[in-house]
Amino acid sequence: MEQIRATITSVGHYLPEERLTNYDLEKLVDTNDEWIRTRTGIKERRILKDPEKATSYMAANAANEALEYAGLKPEQVDVIIIATVTPDYIFPSTACLVQEAIGATNAFAFDLSAACSGFIYALTTGATFIESGRHKNVLVIGADKMSSIIDYTDRTTCILFGDGAGAVLLQPSTDGTGIIDSIHYSEGDINCDLVQKGGGSRHPASQETVAQRLHYINQEGKAVFKKATVGMADVSAEIMERNNLQAEDIAWLVPHQANLRIIDATARRMGLGMDKVMINIERYGNTTGATIPLCLYDWKDLMSNGESIVLTAFGGGFTWGAVYLTWGGK
Ligand code: UT7
Repeated sequence: MEQIRATITSVGHYLPEERLTNYDLEKLVDTNDEWIRTRTGIKERRILKDPEKATSYMAANAANEALEYAGLKPEQVDVIIIATVTPDYIFPSTACLVQEAIGATNAFAFDLSAACSGFIYALTTGATFIESGRHKNVLVIGADKMSSIIDYTDRTTCILFGDGAGAVLLQPSTDGTGIIDSIHYSEGDINCDLVQKGGGSRHPASQETVAQRLHYINQEGKAVFKKATVGMADVSAEIMERNNLQAEDIAWLVPHQANLRIIDATARRMGLGMDKVMINIERYGNTTGATIPLCLYDWKDLMSNGESIVLTAFGGGFTWGAVYLTWGGK
């Protein structure tokens, strides 16, 4: 029996209109535009200001755009997977809220937690539903309202993150394109170098957890930087080797957008010129689960059907990995 391959046939996105620039942050914390740009590559981020709106709102908008582009009705969606660390609620899942919001009445839906690697973990998971032959239309969404867990008095983290959502539709390939290989790793972060401690079962919300600012993201930047640089470069080189790929075979690298210096190190390790690397960190910052699908959305008119693409990410957990695919978009 011929193997069924899952391919990305459509992309959608949502970005809030409100911009938070480096100059705005200069007014909030002891930082400056030059430091932020040279250390991270970020100039501005988008912030979902409306307190009535959360991650599911952005995810549903991204999903609707992907479905519209594909010409698919919401009722035809079989599975919805959302990679997020900022769900609307601990439960029910944000994916269930999106299922209702877009009218995907025949889909089952669940969230996946792998922090900044969430989208590539979800993509591999979504692909297996297609490859099994049991499902035909799988929405994989990366969405995060990072501003909901950012301490805007902590200059080491508040400069990094932004809000946004990206969605892809996975379908069985009819033209040979699609997801060819994936490699994923995890390593428990026992030192809690990248963590949001409050609100879970270890530190349930209390006056103390609020006073101790445990509901905000906390990061040992340097330690994470070192691990991310090695992790993304190594796994990208590994997936190239395993698939006999030379630099000239790869049309695009789609790296998680956490820091321009990490992206640069990954591209150099793969032997790729920066003209082949999708970078939008200067406009959106680190949107966690959304960085990779937002790149795919921004570059969708520049990619050609069948082009070889490597996606790679590193995030809290720790989690990291790479996916090798050929582009299935129109
Ligand atoms: O997406 C998930 C994975 N996350 C990542 O991949 C993020 C990884 N980490 C990073 O991207 C970088 O470590 C940061 C951008 C967070 C920090 O850059 P760095 O080059 O590692 O700086 P640092 O933490 O070593 O700090 C250097 C100096 C320190 O001052 P001293 O001790 O040298 O006097 C910091 O206090 O820069 C200071 N600093 C700042 N100065 C101005 C830290 N944050 C700021 C700031 N503005 N916002």
